[in-house]
Amino acid sequence: MKRVAILVSGGGSNMLALVRSMTGDHPARAVLVASNDPAAAGLAKARDMGVATAAVDHRPFGRDRAAFEAELIKPILAAEPDILCLAGFMRVLTPGFVERFEGRMLNIHPSLLPKYPGLHTHERALKAGESEAGCTVHEVIPELDAGPILGQARVPVERGDTPEALAARVLVQEHRLYPAVLRRFAGGDRSPLYLD
Ligand code: GRF
Repeated sequence: MKRVAILVSGGGSNMLALVRSMTGDHPARAVLVASNDPAAAGLAKARDMGVATAAVDHRPFGRDRAAFEAELIKPILAAEPDILCLAGFMRVLTPGFVERFEGRMLNIHPSLLPKYPGLHTHERALKAGESEAGCTVHEVIPELDAGPILGQARVPVERGDTPEALAARVLVQEHRLYPAVLRRFAGGDRSPLYLD
């Protein structure tokens, strides 16, 4: 049984989808939900589902990312995860942290990478007049939003779409894609999955 730790910063809707998916003959189980924000709503949702939680407030550490990560990694290592899933985790991780989990750390990004790495992806896609948008699950490497793609789901851009409307449509696909990719990944299959 693979042990999965999930990192969140906010509501944790992707975390929720992942935890709910890990039942029955699924080869993985959630062992920890951790956050950089003690007030993250995702932590309460994880507790409600009986998943252990941890939080390290990143703010006292200021710009010292390594010092923050040195604290955050303690509960993560204690949970002995085989796989790390970033799910709405909004802190950039240092290469030092990433390298400790390289090859077993996943992230979901709300664009069809390699298009639109970084923030405000829907706003940028709309401004560029894209006819479709979507989300990507990828392996995390030190370069931001750039690792091997493990899965993508596409959604059409609709006339009059606002970034919020598009984000909501993409989020529905994130909740389909991430659990499907994690199940394959936990089963040792790293071939990319493309959902229509
Ligand atoms: C979502 O927009 C997702 O694309 C990105 O983080 C945002 C919040 O996700 N990864 P969640 O609801 O906290 O899972």
